[in-house]
Amino acid sequence: MKAMGGFITLEGLDGAGTTTQARMLQNVLEHMGINAVLSSEPTSGPVGSLIRQILAGRVNGRHATGMDAMFDRKALALLFAADRLDHCETFIKPLQKQGFIVISDRYLHSSLAYQTQDAEWDWVVTINKYAVQPDLVVFLDVAPEVAMSRIEGRGAGREIFENLGFQQHVMDAYHKALDLLADENKLIVNGEAPKEDVHSEILQRVLEQFNR
Ligand code: TMP
Repeated sequence: MKAMGGFITLEGLDGAGTTTQARMLQNVLEHMGINAVLSSEPTSGPVGSLIRQILAGRVNGRHATGMDAMFDRKALALLFAADRLDHCETFIKPLQKQGFIVISDRYLHSSLAYQTQDAEWDWVVTINKYAVQPDLVVFLDVAPEVAMSRIEGRGAGREIFENLGFQQHVMDAYHKALDLLADENKLIVNGEAPKEDVHSEILQRVLEQFNR
């Protein structure tokens, strides 16, 4: 019988290590002969590419006076939701149907954590209403101060959300979003542990949950 597909998302503050852990997970599952595919949000599609430019501060809105203005944060919330819906319909759902475990580096819970800083919670939920729910949300728990020092160590330019005050609020919203999930749909890992330990904990849970 063909194995049922699954959908796992990795979440955390900027600097929490979601990209590293998503790659490690996909890699090991593939080596075990399990069909697993990696994806991420913002995606590399048309809306995701625009979002990346806005995050880097390369695209601004324009004020009525003709001056550049910050791109509106609620409009950005809509872009994240549009990118997600396209991601669901063109990638996540078709691959799940084919029996793949889809691993997404960030997804819905990023919007619940980040966009609720500038828009109401219920509205962010509403605009994401057609997004397929993950089977498992893995949250990499890293203190905002630690996450920020990792970002500083990276040396690259900062994106618009990468400052300590904002990340502290994002952490609170992540906890609110995680509290709403049933235990079988979430795994909270100490993201400050060595990356191999974090990886082992995630892998063990994934193998248990998906009976592989
Ligand atoms: P990344 O650098 O981890 O790839 O993520 C890009 C940034 O976008 C990061 O600051 C988190 C943010 N983000 C949101 O604000 N909302 C979302 O829905 C997603 C997917 C990412």
